[in-house]
Amino acid sequence: MINIRIPWAKPTFYGKEKEYLLDAFESTWVSGGYYVDKFEDEFRRYNGSEYGITTCNGTASLQLAILALGIGPKDEVIVPGFTFVTPANIVIEAGAIPVYVDVDPLTWCIDPNSVEKYITSKTKAIFAVHVYGNVCDMDTLNNLAKKHHLYIIEDTAEAALSKYKGKCAGTFGDIGCFSFQATKTITMGEGGFVLTSDKGLHDKMRIIRDHGMRKDKHYWHDVVGYNFRLTNLQAAVGCGQLEHLNSIISDRQRVHSLYLKHLANEPGITFQYFKPEVAPIVWAIVLKIDSKFFKGDRDFLIKALLEFGIETRPGFYPFSLMPLYNAPTLTIAEDIGANVISLPSFNTLTEDEISFICDKLKTIRK
Ligand SMILES: Cc1ncc(COP(=O)(O)O)c(C=O)c1O
Repeated sequence: MINIRIPWAKPTFYGKEKEYLLDAFESTWVSGGYYVDKFEDEFRRYNGSEYGITTCNGTASLQLAILALGIGPKDEVIVPGFTFVTPANIVIEAGAIPVYVDVDPLTWCIDPNSVEKYITSKTKAIFAVHVYGNVCDMDTLNNLAKKHHLYIIEDTAEAALSKYKGKCAGTFGDIGCFSFQATKTITMGEGGFVLTSDKGLHDKMRIIRDHGMRKDKHYWHDVVGYNFRLTNLQAAVGCGQLEHLNSIISDRQRVHSLYLKHLANEPGITFQYFKPEVAPIVWAIVLKIDSKFFKGDRDFLIKALLEFGIETRPGFYPFSLMPLYNAPTLTIAEDIGANVISLPSFNTLTEDEISFICDKLKTIRK
């Protein structure tokens, strides 16, 4: 068995997460409670959004968005070809049709210039997935949405704390969705969030999250709902994280710049490109590999690094390669999916560990 010396991801707890968790536990408010309300208010304010609701995970956040926007059977929703799978699954689960479009070869986010040709009279929404901490071209997407009367759902699961033109990712579309799963930039084990500036959408989402039950009449239901609630225990951990956002940001930036220092000028290695208007808080450090410069392809690199105890991840498989999704060829997504490798990216990585990872990567050169 291979001994993992440096894992791909590891959560970092900076301060009072444990104290608040025990406090929530001892209060016996283990379902809803004080920390849920506190996290809701503080995270919403940090992002500069009018309304915010905690949820049990990122997947539930996306589902809440789709339900609140009334997207259902026969509606079409535009989904980028290169992303973690959730947006497509949620669209399919709603009975709607995902329309897959290719991504930008440099930013790896949805290519806004190829979106318009996929818009039909049935299109209801565009999923703007902020991949690996980058932020999509929100100006172009919002202009398209306005022109064609479409909703924008921002999948900000990988881009908490990233900014676009000085504003937080997740505040540009109709609804911004977040995940607080263990590997994410802010974590509470599992958890999620939705942001919106629309009171109507907020009210709908709050009710759907809570079994569809009316707020002023117990056990009365006007809409079909779910239980997408976050627990007070998880929110307590989240409140501890919110007290250290500056440390999370500076640690993520330190890790990113150390990788750039070691690898930016290496032939055969390309980093994800961030446009000047994006201030990314990178969730995962991901490199595109040109296998001509290495002893093998990306999958060979993953195995070779594992031999040194370094755990990595491949890129997302594009929808076009997974028969389940029945997607057309997506040339750029396929190229990125086949050639990117995600390196250990957690907040407490030391310079020595990053040097070790980069040195080992260089030993796999031709
Ligand atoms: C882009 C994206 N969307 C949605 C999700 C789903 O979030 P969760 O795992 O919290 O359900 C994830 C990751 O886990 C993700 O990376």
